[in-house]
Order: sequence, then structure tokens, then C-alpha cells
Amino acid sequence: MNQDILILGIESSCDETAAAVVKNGREVLSNIISSQIPLHTLYGGVVPEIASRKHVEKVIPVISEALSAAGVTLQDIDAVAVTYGPGLVGALLVGVSAAKGLAYAAHKPLVGVHHIEGHVAANYLEHPDLEPPFGCLVVSGGHTHLVEVLDYGKFSIIGRTRDDAAGEAFDKVARAIGLGYPGGPKIDRKAKEGNPDAIPFPRASVEGAFYDFSFSGLKSAVLNYLNHEKMQGNEVNEADIAASFQKAVVDVLSGKALALIREKKYTKFALAGGVASNSALREAMKEVCSREDVGFYCPSPVFCTDNAAMIACAGYYEYMNGVRSGLDLNAVPNLKLGER
Ligand code: KG4
Ligand code: ZN
Repeated sequence: MNQDILILGIESSCDETAAAVVKNGREVLSNIISSQIPLHTLYGGVVPEIASRKHVEKVIPVISEALSAAGVTLQDIDAVAVTYGPGLVGALLVGVSAAKGLAYAAHKPLVGVHHIEGHVAANYLEHPDLEPPFGCLVVSGGHTHLVEVLDYGKFSIIGRTRDDAAGEAFDKVARAIGLGYPGGPKIDRKAKEGNPDAIPFPRASVEGAFYDFSFSGLKSAVLNYLNHEKMQGNEVNEADIAASFQKAVVDVLSGKALALIREKKYTKFALAGGVASNSALREAMKEVCSREDVGFYCPSPVFCTDNAAMIACAGYYEYMNGVRSGLDLNAVPNLKLGER
């Protein structure tokens, strides 16, 4: 008898149409991602209507490819897991509708997954030893959260951003200095040529809420710096701005993570989300964790940014916990972490 559980994961919350097959929550059999980045680059950011239309075009071919790359058919799948929020409503609806159609046609259970729960679960894919509880810094284009992962799918939120997400700040600053979209990887690359101590950008904190973040002041400081230099007729050094901005973000993120590790005495700490692929952040967190003698976990870059293997993984644990979604599952653009 085959005891293996195969989950088909589907992700379409922003600008990646993705599908994956994961065995027993941890073994990635296939991971197909159709990125829309070149399309949105023309506009300097994600255009929601264009994203939805592209998802419609790609969702079925991407799912078929994920099944065939895994060497399975829909009949071999135990459940279909899909991101149903948070994200762009039109984009989410495409994945949710496709998942519902497949679950209905093939008589398979449907499991709605929270996108951030997926990002956290990306850590399980390559670290078979990692189990909750652990502390986690989730940093993406839409989220910046310090969370305690209490159990699979169970979280306690300790801090969050009050304004821009870390990835959003990367994207906006990259646009301002003319690096284009998507900003995170471009700033990461440019920063390697610059001096991180060249410009003293602010490290903001939120009064009365130590673990909360605020990045809009930092973004404004970069814009003000650019305007000031322009008015003075000075030429700006993009690499120094990128490096100094990135250092300010990394200092704040790693500083709060360190304080939390000390306060909660975690033995394990993980990074998650697109910004977790930032080389300076990974390096800083690796150092913090090694200094504190804490196990450090971080997904490979391909599992940091949006993908469906992480959704299949999170879906597996929800499925094993008995979670089932009805065919009335809807996209929830502002779904809160821990809500169903
Ligand atoms: O997790 P993700 O793919 O989508 C969301 O759920 O938002 O994250 C995308 C974000 C973008 O803001 C992108 O600029 C940022 O992650 N990002 C990075 C890097 N790679 C992607 N930020 C900093 N450094 C990177 N290397
Ligand atoms: Zn994401």
C-alpha cells in the first residue's frame, strides 16, 4: 500500500504563476514557475489587470507541466492546495478557480493556504530536521512580520510593519535610483560595488512597539537625499546609495531579530519571503544566529520568492490536520495570518 501523500500546490497571488507537486510535505517532485517579471518591468511594477490575464493564460499549462515533471497524473494526487490570500484579488481568483475546478473534476480534497504560511513552510522543504517551534522573520514585497511559529500552521505575530513592507522599500528605492523592477535583486547586486557606510540613512523604530517596523521614513530619506544632491548639482553614486540603504534595512531587521532571539531564547530561527534571498540579510542573520548559538534556516533563493512548492508543503500540514476547504472557497486579498 502506498502511504505517500502527494499534494499539488498552486500559487498565483502576485506576478508568478506556479504549480508544484510535493511528497509528504518535504520532498519536491516538481516546481514550475512562470514569472511575469519581464512583462511588468515595462511598467516599473506589477499591473494587477495584466497579472490576472497572464495567470489565466498560464495556469493550466503550468499545472500540466508540474504534474508531468513529477511523473504523476491528477488521479495520483491526494489533495489540491492553493493560495487564497493575501494578494491581488484578480490574480488570486485565477489560482483558486483552477484549483476548485480540478478538485471538483477529480474528486480531490481542496485546501486553501495562507500565502505567508507558505513562505514560512518553504523552510521545511530543504531542512528535514526543522520542526516548530521556532522564530521567523518573514520579509516579502507585501509583508514584514516577526512571528513565532508555534506549530505547523500556528503562528503568534510579534511584530509587523506599520507602513511599507521591506520588499516594497527595496522596489521603491530601486525605482528612484533608476535600477528598475524588481528592485530587491537589483539593489542586492548594485550594493556589492558600493560603500554601505557612505550615507547615514535612518534606522527607524516605532515608539512603544519595539518589534514593529517602519520603512517609509527610510524610503523618504533616500528620496530627499537624491533631490538634495540633484539641487546641488552633484552626481550621485548609485552603488553607495544601494549599499547604504540595504545596510539600513538589514541593520533594523537583524537587530530586532537578535533582540527577539535573546528575549525568547529560541534555539532555531528562520528567514522567509522574497527579501530572504537578499545576500546581505542572509549573511547578517547567519552571523547573528551563529553568535547566539541558534540554528539558522533559510530557503534557497528559488524557494524564497513566490513558488508553489511552499504552498504544497503548507497545504500538506493543513491537510494532515484535517483542514478541508469547500468549493465556495474565495480569494481573500487581505487575509490575516492565522485566520481561516
Ligand atoms: O515573496 P515575494 O516573491 O512576493 C511577495 O509575497 O511579496 O517577494 C517579492 C519581493 C520584492 O519586493 C522583491 O524586490 C524582493 O522580494 N526581493 C529582494 C531580493 N529578491 C527579491 N529584496 C532584496 N534582495 C533580494 N535579493
Ligand atoms: Zn510571496
